[in-house]
Amino acid sequence: MGNARRRCRFSGSHRGIIGTFVCLWRGGRSTLLLSRMTEHFHNLPDSYQIGHITVRPNIVLAPMAGVTDSVFRRLLLSLGGLGMVTTEMTNAASVTSKAMARHRLLDYLPEERPIAMQLSGSEPELVAAAAKQVEALGADIIDFNCGCPSPKVTGGGHGSALLKDLPKLSRMLTAIREAVSIPVTLKFRAGWDDASLNYVETAKIAEAAGISAIVLHPRTKVQGYAGSADWERIAEAKAAVRIPVIGSGDVKSAEDALRRLTETGVDGVMIGRGAMANPWIFRQISELRADQPIFEPQPADKHWLLLRYLHMLLETMPEHHTMGKLKQLIGQFYVGLPGAAALRRDVQHAKSTAEQQEIIDAYFEPYLSGRFTVAAGAELLDELHNALVES
Ligand SMILES: Cc1cc2nc3c(=O)[nH]c(=O)nc-3n(C[C@H](O)[C@H](O)[C@H](O)COP(=O)(O)O)c2cc1C
Repeated sequence: MGNARRRCRFSGSHRGIIGTFVCLWRGGRSTLLLSRMTEHFHNLPDSYQIGHITVRPNIVLAPMAGVTDSVFRRLLLSLGGLGMVTTEMTNAASVTSKAMARHRLLDYLPEERPIAMQLSGSEPELVAAAAKQVEALGADIIDFNCGCPSPKVTGGGHGSALLKDLPKLSRMLTAIREAVSIPVTLKFRAGWDDASLNYVETAKIAEAAGISAIVLHPRTKVQGYAGSADWERIAEAKAAVRIPVIGSGDVKSAEDALRRLTETGVDGVMIGRGAMANPWIFRQISELRADQPIFEPQPADKHWLLLRYLHMLLETMPEHHTMGKLKQLIGQFYVGLPGAAALRRDVQHAKSTAEQQEIIDAYFEPYLSGRFTVAAGAELLDELHNALVES
């Protein structure tokens, strides 16, 4: 029992309900419980429609400014189980050939399809004109951002500022939809603050404007990223409209994702920070749903992923940008081995990508050469944990 418990405790994404069942009831009974639970997951819908586009599987990557560029999206798509990706939010005013050559936010490769391109803006005519250009770039879907809480964005009347002016949001959505022939979606928050929750109204306005699907992150603008995402709000929005509803917020494991689908009846689940922590989460969701053994990334997989990301970045951007992107990923990436904090710190202080690679190689070398085992690492973590608890 001790060993089984330890293995589960350190198996990263596998620490949820199912992991606990396996830990506590090994043998025939755990198998029974697992198969009962996965039988339930078998019956869940695994796709949704955005206009003529089928999104399958119905688990998608959240747009994250500064993170989900073409390299990150392609890296995650290559790991499997990911139904759709979206570009980082792009200000409609910067959809000009000159600005796009500089910011490159709308760069993508054919293997990323279907791809949604996300725009923000406050002027319906300007956003509609940008949407037309984005359609010409080859976007499969236009996604409009009505959720970004950053004061820089809301100060200009963009992002979640539009939650304070739903008639304008309605005009915006209609203008975009009329400008393009591809489907248009809306990503929004639950309201400006707790006193002005208007997510059900916003969902209905989007549907009435001919929007093909909506994504709700159920925090308010004022909440930022504090507290937790209230999925009951997402379930309420789902019950209020007939178009597909995708939920976003705090999905950190395969069990979380399938539980959200089961409990709220949403059409899809969107994952952001959880995919930075565990880029294999989409694959694990597919496996859990199919009642297959769940892939648990080993040190060699984590080493490979970090270096693959570094090299893919270097192929498309200057060294200093690459360094910044790797620092950002490693800040969120779940290493789950002793010394991970020092690894993060050292990569963040490195002065070149060569140095970053050396640090990563040196950190993982004892595992790759077989000098350390994950079990020994878990043992050490256990000891550290016990020492902390006792002190
Ligand atoms: C660093 C970061 C950047 C983000 N950028 C965007 C963005 O450009 N457009 C957008 O609609 N949402 C953006 N979001 C919100 C996410 O798409 C998502 O709705 C939110 O993080 C909650 O999901 P999560 O808990 O799975 O991360 C961003 C979130 C983070 C953490």
